[in-house]
Amino acid sequence: MKRAGAARGETPGAAAVRRAKRAVAERLVPWFRGAARELPWRREPRSGYAVWVSEIMLQQTRVETVVPYFARFMRDYPTVRALAAAPLDGVLKHWEGLGYYTRARNLHRAAQIVAERHGGEVPEDAAALRALPGLGDYTVAAIGSFAFGLPLAVLDGNVMRVLARLFALDWDIAKPASRAKLQSLADALLAREAPGACNEAWMELGATVCKPKGALCGECPLAGICAARAEGGGVERYPVRGGAKAVPHRVAGAAIVRDGKGGVLVVRRPPEAGGLLAGLWQVPAAEAAGTGAEALREAAARAAEAAGVRGGRAVGEEVALVRHAFSHFTLETHAFPVEFDGKPPRGAAGKRAFARRETLDKFAFGKTDSTILRQIGIAG
Ligand code: ADE
Repeated sequence: MKRAGAARGETPGAAAVRRAKRAVAERLVPWFRGAARELPWRREPRSGYAVWVSEIMLQQTRVETVVPYFARFMRDYPTVRALAAAPLDGVLKHWEGLGYYTRARNLHRAAQIVAERHGGEVPEDAAALRALPGLGDYTVAAIGSFAFGLPLAVLDGNVMRVLARLFALDWDIAKPASRAKLQSLADALLAREAPGACNEAWMELGATVCKPKGALCGECPLAGICAARAEGGGVERYPVRGGAKAVPHRVAGAAIVRDGKGGVLVVRRPPEAGGLLAGLWQVPAAEAAGTGAEALREAAARAAEAAGVRGGRAVGEEVALVRHAFSHFTLETHAFPVEFDGKPPRGAAGKRAFARRETLDKFAFGKTDSTILRQIGIAG
């Protein structure tokens, strides 16, 4: 059978790229202008700051989830300077539930740099953007092209999938070499007269039409030149992915330490310690040696001890269980009540506190901990 796309491992030929480039200008961009979803960060005129905040929130997070977070964030931090001047705790609180909190810490730090070095204006220059914490090639291209019309092609998961299908590419998109080739292809296809609309059109096509499963080829403005479609057998065979690696699974015991006045002990992960959840509050927890009740209780007691509880003993039955998938591992946390001798430990500003229903607003928690607090009836 004649292959409509590139031969195995090959780059699409110049004629195929030219034809696609014409279709981008004549069909894809006009389609986008008519079909684009109305989203709060797309309102014109687009500001570099609004695009930046939205793009950071949209990394690893669905559009529907981001919409209300974006609105609250822009209401309370309407400018780079406002964000730069705000305490990190409040910024993390605005991020609570979005996950990947490093994004929020980097955004806050980067806003301070923009306030100091660029007078509070998002720089309209790729190298200056790239120098900010949390901005990689993708985000720089998105901010640069959407807000400032810079000719930089974006490459995200949606764009990779659309390109892989359009040219029937059998490149393993998990490999850096494939990504580099895809970036070159996206660069070659960029409509220089409308880079922002062109980029966002690829992304929108991937998100709403050329979906990972259930592609809507009948609605696709590029169906007529799609090599995967021409091959028959379903466009969903593309993109090709290498075998997914197994992610490690961790198990933890968490300590529910009550002060007898409606409070539950929470501790803050030091912001400077780094790690996924730095700066957020949590119920004391420690990794367990196994999933048996004894190992979990031992871990809960150890966590309580490390949090300043003297003679802590995990007693009774499990009161909460939360499973959460992080990017590089999965975690299941089992919480147990912990009893102790004498008085409860004292609070220590910014490090240790007893959180109660009425004071929860003061603490930013990750998903696991807010779920534990909900399961034990502290949070609503
Ligand atoms: N995902 C990443 N950036 C996006 C944008 N600008 N609009 C919709 N979804 C997106």
